Amino acid sequence: MHLCDIITRSAHPAPWSEGDNIPWHEPGFSARMLREHLCHAHDAASRRLAVVDRHVAWIHERVLGGTPTSILDLGCGPGLYASRLARRGHTCIGIDYSPASIAYAEDEARRANLACTYRLADIGQADYGSGHGAAMLLYGEMNVFRPGDIRAILQRMHDSLVPGGVVILEVSTYAAIRQQGLAGRSWYSASQGLFSEQPYLCLQESHWDEATATSALRYYVVDTATAEVTLYAQTLQAYTEEEYAALLAEHGFVDLGVHPSLTGGEGEYQPEFVVLVARRDGAVA
Ligand SMILES: C[S@@+](CC[C@H](N)C(=O)[O-])C[C@H]1O[C@@H](n2cnc3c(N)ncnc32)[C@H](O)[C@@H]1O
Repeated sequence: MHLCDIITRSAHPAPWSEGDNIPWHEPGFSARMLREHLCHAHDAASRRLAVVDRHVAWIHERVLGGTPTSILDLGCGPGLYASRLARRGHTCIGIDYSPASIAYAEDEARRANLACTYRLADIGQADYGSGHGAAMLLYGEMNVFRPGDIRAILQRMHDSLVPGGVVILEVSTYAAIRQQGLAGRSWYSASQGLFSEQPYLCLQESHWDEATATSALRYYVVDTATAEVTLYAQTLQAYTEEEYAALLAEHGFVDLGVHPSLTGGEGEYQPEFVVLVARRDGAVA
């Protein structure tokens, strides 16, 4: 793309029309993103380890009742949750399409001899296996999928669980996604950063579409040496709490509990998320 393509861009991009997500799966981006996952200075990409430890304690003790089980972690990133859950006796399967994150997670599992298996795959297509006691999709990742795709993912999560097995979804609130869409335009410059090792400008733009309850986010990355432009785009789907509940019921989940955070309590850093915990229907063996 050239700079003039920014001038002629559409005023209101249709949801998902310009791209599905930021390029988590590209090797260079994934290596740079891994640094953010592991950074102790912020909670972007993954939470700081002290926060992850509190989340894992809540999942283990309060959601899973301290009983070791098989856990499917979709969008597991570098395995910060899976590795800690394995240290508490669970067997974990993590799926993610970021090569650097999966390599890091596998290396950690090998070195610490953890009961973790990782797969480099798109969770839209990957085989989830079966017989799991829990399946999770954290950090708002559910909201980046098209409604039809997330329905298919929820159904496959359901089918991968034993009856009574637990689904744990950390999702964005309707208000948070609307706010992101209404954020408008901003920009920053970097001598090197997440989008490139070379100096670049990142021009960000967002649009809220009330009719579809989606926020379309654009990142125009301008290489300052060549003026070449790369567009990364993602769309976030907003759901009300009632819509989340209906979606889970539609896919065979019962006993829904809504929690303010992955520690079960208020006062965590990121009020833009809520945590949905429900059980797969069917008779428990
Ligand atoms: C915000 S990060 C969260 C990582 C991890 N759950 C955590 O909280 O530490 C989202 C992760 O989802 C992964 N992801 C997003 N879409 C995916 C897809 N379609 N298939 C596989 N992984 C995906 C990304 O690569 C990234 O590692």
